[in-house]
Amino acid sequence: MELLKKLCLANGTSGEEENIRDIIIEEVKDYVDEYKTDPLGNLICVKKGTGGGKKIMYAAHMDEIGVIVTVIDDKGFLRFSNIGGINPYNMVHRKVRFKNGTVGVVSFDADTKMGELNLSKMFIDIGAKSKEEAEKYVQIGDSASLVSEFVDLNNHVSCKAMDDRAGCYCLIEAVKKNLRTENDIYYVFTTQEELGLRGATTAGFNVDPDFAIAIDVTRTGDIPEAKRMAVMMDNGVCIKIKDDGIISHPYVVNYMKECAKKDNIKYQLEVLEGGRTDSGAIHLTRSGVKAGVISIPSRYIHSPSETVSKKDLEECIKLIVATEKYQFKEAF
Ligand code: CO
Ligand code: ZN
Repeated sequence: MELLKKLCLANGTSGEEENIRDIIIEEVKDYVDEYKTDPLGNLICVKKGTGGGKKIMYAAHMDEIGVIVTVIDDKGFLRFSNIGGINPYNMVHRKVRFKNGTVGVVSFDADTKMGELNLSKMFIDIGAKSKEEAEKYVQIGDSASLVSEFVDLNNHVSCKAMDDRAGCYCLIEAVKKNLRTENDIYYVFTTQEELGLRGATTAGFNVDPDFAIAIDVTRTGDIPEAKRMAVMMDNGVCIKIKDDGIISHPYVVNYMKECAKKDNIKYQLEVLEGGRTDSGAIHLTRSGVKAGVISIPSRYIHSPSETVSKKDLEECIKLIVATEKYQFKEAF
């Protein structure tokens, strides 16, 4: 879990993924034939096939949700906006950390009725006494990540940014299995997913794959009074059928199911109401791409305590590896 912990604790809000990219390059560079960073910051790693194969793209996003400073008031309090989907209630009295190490406590205007909380009523307190003093540490447009601890919860682990460092972690572990097949494999670590799949949009166009699979977290239906959903923690990795951004291609779905059966991988089928992944952008690239998604069940998504199951992570790695191994041939 050390690599996952390192990935989660590193900060990389959308558009500022360089810390994450550096960690990933160190991890994968000895296992791929080439890698490059594109203008949007996507890290595109290529493992060449032995020839005559297809082009396969795997994608996991490096960015995490966060906040961005909009106004610094006379007393030195920072007003902020969201980077990605931020629930104001998840932010109350949490701490955020800026790139230069400045930490702030998030609170809200004292006259706010709890049911009416929104980001415009919230501020960040960095301990400055004036606008002038605050400006020594923070500028308009600076972004910050949630402060969180990586904790072991028996079967589960919890931290900020599991969305989608858990996916990055599984993809890195798959790269390290070092399979060589006839297919050219593109392992892509994307940027700005949380702002609308932006990195995946250009990376998908660039790679122009025959098949694509995104790896990302998904919700579960197993916490008290949860919104109805069949996905459960510890019940295996998910093969996505549908979310708000894609209907997974039936070829890819069937292929993934066969891979799972062949390698004894515990999986569950996923229909996610609300939410999208990088495959939503990739499958609409050029003339269209046959795409699917491997999802990791996660509780408390977009909070400082995103939680995943150690067992599900293992199954996720196994499924990625199996999809590589069987080379996207449906009848094997
Ligand atoms: Co997300
Ligand atoms: Zn995600």
